[in-house]
Amino acid sequence: MKPELAIFGFVALASATILWDGRFSDYSTAADFDKWSWSNQVGQYQTYIYGNLHGETASSWLTLGSQFKNPATSAEAQGAKVKLNASFTWNGGPMLRTELIPQTMSSLSGHLYFHVSLQIPTVNAPDPAYEHQIVFWEGHFADIKYGQLSVKGTWYNFILETGSPGGLWVSTGSSLLQKVFTGSLNGNGGTDWHIGALRLPVNGQTQQITETDIYYSGIYVEDSGPTTQP
Ligand SMILES: *[C@@H]1O[C@H](CO)[C@@H](O)[C@H](O)[C@H]1NC(C)=O
Repeated sequence: MKPELAIFGFVALASATILWDGRFSDYSTAADFDKWSWSNQVGQYQTYIYGNLHGETASSWLTLGSQFKNPATSAEAQGAKVKLNASFTWNGGPMLRTELIPQTMSSLSGHLYFHVSLQIPTVNAPDPAYEHQIVFWEGHFADIKYGQLSVKGTWYNFILETGSPGGLWVSTGSSLLQKVFTGSLNGNGGTDWHIGALRLPVNGQTQQITETDIYYSGIYVEDSGPTTQP
């Protein structure tokens, strides 16, 4: 065989498939979140966790805009601002909640990569006296929570790698995500993945509630890779 024939061999690069895309490109305004209901499951998100369910709409608690996305993300024009305030506790209980959940036929289960970028803004940041769960599965096998050491005004990029081997990938701003933990997240993913703010009360104390905002963008799930560009 002549040496030049060898160049005709090639390696097919496995490309990742996005199983569910929660980037907000298909939403023109937050009013699009209001189109979802249990009997009309349209769009990328289920939007039933907000306010006190006494007549508000999801778009009262969710705002879309380019100022709410990681500016390093070119695959998406806008992000979402998730709001909590003093007007409600969710569903009559003591928790404050505004959350988005994937609307998908995929099981989102297995060895997968769940991408999410978020920013704790400098204005209306969560009160660290309260526990805020800000990315979690309903089964709570792996939660991202807001803590006192979080730096406000910074975009944090995360990949939650479910299944095996599992792990956590992190970066800030435009930096490529790096794997900082290899090991099981104790769960296989699933569609009951909550993006948003769930604030717990402190037992026995009257809640002090001021407006609280968190920004989210870059939300999608892929089956391989992972893509490390925010
Ligand atoms: C809380 O937000 C809701 C929805 O945007 C709004 O209707 C209400 O006036 C706000 N309440 C306070 C106390 O700011």
